[in-house]
Amino acid sequence: MRMRRRLVRALVRPLALAAAVTALSAGSTASVAADRAVIGGFPVDASQSPWTVALSSRDRFGGTRSGQFCGGAAVGRTTVLTAAHCMDRDVLGGPPERVKDLKVITGRTDLLADRDGQEIAVRSAWVNPAYDGVSNIGDFAVLTLARPLPAGSVIGMAADGDPAYAPGGAATVYGWGDISGAGEYPSDLRAARVRVLPDASCEEAYPGGGADGTYDARSMLCAGEMDGGRDACQGDSGGPLVARGRLIGLVSWGIGCGRAGSPGVYMRVSDIMRTLGWR
Ligand code: ARG
Repeated sequence: MRMRRRLVRALVRPLALAAAVTALSAGSTASVAADRAVIGGFPVDASQSPWTVALSSRDRFGGTRSGQFCGGAAVGRTTVLTAAHCMDRDVLGGPPERVKDLKVITGRTDLLADRDGQEIAVRSAWVNPAYDGVSNIGDFAVLTLARPLPAGSVIGMAADGDPAYAPGGAATVYGWGDISGAGEYPSDLRAARVRVLPDASCEEAYPGGGADGTYDARSMLCAGEMDGGRDACQGDSGGPLVARGRLIGLVSWGIGCGRAGSPGVYMRVSDIMRTLGWR
């Protein structure tokens, strides 16, 4: 419970500030921000990762940044994976079906450019019933869209045993989340290059027992840089971690962002496939 509240606070509080901060990060600090991003990332065009979508509710999060509050990964033309905690009632103010303007946004690099790309309504949200907000185990949800995404928007998933999961391998995480850990939200999509890390790195960093989550190697994936500097952050949750052109993780949690010794923890996509019987 404690962790869940901590996580949710970490997500919602900075997002409430996002509107105010957007003008700054989009304008005067753009040159500073350009060499950071996600955390330690770089700008990318939405067309370079068409399977990266923004989750949006303007009613809940305000219209300044197209209502963006989380990320998602398109694995079918009407199927988007995201984090279960993005659908939490503390985030949405109620169950997802009550959020009438819940949408995914595709093909929009700059959230301030309201006319770019498409906004597609979420028809239904299935939240993993086994998601545990204390350990953070099982942090995924499946969104079914009211209309199909454009052709070519879908990324393949890495099944269990895929070499894309091998520790040491290069991976890239995408999102519109905080670029500094201080609630500095960019308007443009960013990506950061990280490495898949051995489970032992996250088991050491997140042994559980305290107020923080517990690393579970079966259902989670550890990625980042042991020295810190490159990572996902608040607002990136639910978004894709990609290796060898395949989806291996969804942004889930971590302590702080980009800190040495506290790598990012991702929902392991092979465990989503196992849970759903997708083979
Ligand atoms: N829980 C965050 C979110 O809702 C994602 C945090 C990821 N943190 C990290 N250090 N990789 O957006």
